[in-house]
Amino acid sequence: MKLIRTENYEAMSLEAGKIIVDKIRSNPSLTLGLATGSTPKGLYKYLIKEHQENGTSYKQVKSVNLDEYSGLQAHDPNSYHYFMRQNLFNHLDISEYETHIPNGAARDLEQECIRYEQLIQELGGVDLQILGIGQNGHIGFNEPGTPFSSRTHIVTLAENTREANSRFFNSLAEVPTHAITMGIASILDSREILLLVSGEKKAEALLKFMNGEISEDFPASALKHHQNVTVIADKDALKYI
Ligand code: GLP
Repeated sequence: MKLIRTENYEAMSLEAGKIIVDKIRSNPSLTLGLATGSTPKGLYKYLIKEHQENGTSYKQVKSVNLDEYSGLQAHDPNSYHYFMRQNLFNHLDISEYETHIPNGAARDLEQECIRYEQLIQELGGVDLQILGIGQNGHIGFNEPGTPFSSRTHIVTLAENTREANSRFFNSLAEVPTHAITMGIASILDSREILLLVSGEKKAEALLKFMNGEISEDFPASALKHHQNVTVIADKDALKYI
């Protein structure tokens, strides 16, 4: 595992952005695994700016997102579909047919999980997966206790995850109770992983990740089984390390 230390959030976003742009330049039909949340927002801003200034093209790039709330339509401002369009896709030349996100509004969610897992296989797997980390160590929406062998599945969100994410909603009651997420095994299939960690709120989770044991009680620890993980963390997140 490689650790890149950065001074602050902007520098973390820049480091991640440079790695991604380099990959796209050398493989224009890259399949990117994308994440939502506050953490990758700066990275997405960088990719947009870089695309506008240098013309790096995403015409052949494909993307798969980690997760989506259940019960929210794609046009719902709190859906991850909406987030991705607003924060990235609308500003790049990527084809909307090549951006994939689990459909949390599907009638048959079990079937949707199977479809999504097959889709990732059909795309040939993820070349580069971007990840954030939850304060309880979750990756995607894989909460503590999720088997490392898990594939795309429906989850019941932990209460602290709902609370952490309620800042985007009008009230806690509006935060969905369930979501679809790529499983831990699906994530570990990615050929390369970039884990972004920023801010003091994540310092304990990062400490546990770096120094703690590998356990299903701390989902991110599964990444230690992967051969090609780069952690890019800022000073505040690295407070205890
Ligand atoms: C969310 C997302 C994760 C994300 C994490 C951290 O619930 N499902 O994919 O990495 O929690 O979010 P943030 O970056 O906002 O701290």
